[in-house]
Amino acid sequence: MTERNGNVISFDLIYQFSKTDIEKRIEEVRVIVMQQMRENMDNYVWTNIKDLDELEFTRMSAMKKFLSDYEKGKAEGRYVFHELPNRLLYEDNYFDIGLSSHFLLMYTSLGYDFHIASITEMLRVCKEIRIFPIVDLDANKTDLTVKVMDYFKKDYNVESVKTDYEFQKGENKLLIIKKIV
Ligand SMILES: C[S@@+](CC[C@H](N)C(=O)[O-])C[C@H]1O[C@@H](n2cnc3c(N)ncnc32)[C@H](O)[C@@H]1O
Repeated sequence: MTERNGNVISFDLIYQFSKTDIEKRIEEVRVIVMQQMRENMDNYVWTNIKDLDELEFTRMSAMKKFLSDYEKGKAEGRYVFHELPNRLLYEDNYFDIGLSSHFLLMYTSLGYDFHIASITEMLRVCKEIRIFPIVDLDANKTDLTVKVMDYFKKDYNVESVKTDYEFQKGENKLLIIKKIV
């Protein structure tokens, strides 16, 4: 998005680490992650990405691209070390849209209160938020997603939308929570 002249700021715990630390960690887990993918190939849809080699190449290219931008992005305040649900240093409705990918609703062990507080804080600074996917780590539907949707339905437009993107089987729904204007 930055390359396309969009204004994007990312928040993650991982941004507390240096480029060298992250690079080292990527190398350490590279073989382990690919071995896990090999063992679980049947759980994935191999249409856009044809095989494991293409997957590894695609992921490593994305990581290299991220790392080449990391220090500049940190200096420009585009990669910010932040732990949800703590309060973000942005005013209400600062962002048009907030995205959470493979984090909120996926780690059910973090609990209902954590998810409600984190999404509430995202909704304070964003006019709209989108969460993908809305299943747990094993791609199963969860009570947590149902309860979170019910909670926000009271005051927001809440819809779950089917996407064209499905890599892990069953992971093809996006949750959109929008402020009612
Ligand atoms: C599975 S990764 C997904 C990373 C990225 N969003 C993606 O889709 O490739 C989950 C991420 O959540 C971050 N994370 C975990 N707990 C967090 C918290 N309380 N606040 C902010 N980020 C957190 C981790 O550091 C990790 O980078």
